[in-house]
Amino acid sequence: TVYRASTTAPVNIAVIKYWGKRDTALNLPTNSSLSVTLSQKSLKTHTTASCSSSYTGPDTLVLNGELEDIQSSKRTQACLQVLKRFRRDVEKKDSSLPKLSDMPLRLVSANNFPTAAGLASSAAGFAALVRAIANLYELPHSPTELSKVARQGSGSACRSLMGGYVAWRAGSAKDGSDSIAEEVASVSHWPDMRALILVVSADKKGTPSTAGMQTTVETSTLFPTRANEIVPKRMAAIEEAIQAKDFPTFANITMMDSNSFHAVCLDSWPPIHYLNDVSRAAMNAVETINRRAGEPIAAYTFDAGPNAVIYYQEKDETSVAGVFRYVLQAVGGWDGEYGAQIRPNER
Ligand code: DP6
Repeated sequence: TVYRASTTAPVNIAVIKYWGKRDTALNLPTNSSLSVTLSQKSLKTHTTASCSSSYTGPDTLVLNGELEDIQSSKRTQACLQVLKRFRRDVEKKDSSLPKLSDMPLRLVSANNFPTAAGLASSAAGFAALVRAIANLYELPHSPTELSKVARQGSGSACRSLMGGYVAWRAGSAKDGSDSIAEEVASVSHWPDMRALILVVSADKKGTPSTAGMQTTVETSTLFPTRANEIVPKRMAAIEEAIQAKDFPTFANITMMDSNSFHAVCLDSWPPIHYLNDVSRAAMNAVETINRRAGEPIAAYTFDAGPNAVIYYQEKDETSVAGVFRYVLQAVGGWDGEYGAQIRPNER
């Protein structure tokens, strides 16, 4: 018998950025973060997990058609070990269940978007991996429990196990037991929210986020203020703005936090640059759109790469997405666009 389960997991794009770890083994962050989960209609990872007593050899993962070296990936191993332990606990309680925890796992995963181009592929990737294995093992654990497992794969992955508006609470426990993701509002709470993803470059990014954030923690003099003072205030303020569906406040905090994250990158030594001229043109376009509208109707945010994500409300579709198509084509260097809606909160 081959036991099998498939799932998809969505990308999430942070509006308050996770940047910095207090524990690099467990992926415990220096600050809380908050993201919006995008619709799986546009960006997602699809993963199938199977196991069988007829399989031989170690656990394997094929990602986008290529065999990955998961044996030497501490993070993947950490996720697999925890999930197997969870399954063993289930098997102990009911001895009639097949001993899946002893069988080799075969994982097959594919993204429908560029991997490692700063489009949060690791977030969707680890979320899909954890969810697929949890389904295969029929684990009773809640998404919040599973978020602790996905976090060990990639920090931002813990936020992709839920839909809508998701906070990752930094927590303070040394073992990470309180470093969890939780939904702060469902997608139906603010259904007009839209995200436009501008793929400035689909190349692999220069500095991987794991290495980049360590450099920032170790060298940036601005970083402690960001992590300890600025972000906690912004977390509270943006959660309030989301509850009130106050787009101008949501937009201003989103843009300021993206800029603060890229400022501490530049303040690192050696400095880290993720934005390029096309990214800056996108920022200027948003400023122009907002100035013309008389209030913020669009918000930009950038992760560890030059690609822009623009948040706006459906009612402003023509003024925002329409203008972007025109502006960025004129600037050049624009590979294409993914219009992504916020994921419906289906579970
Ligand atoms: C800029 O989650 O990729 O996208 O935990 O080392 O795997 P690791 O880092 P990762 O970092 C994401 C950083 C970010 C901001 C964010 O998503 O909050």
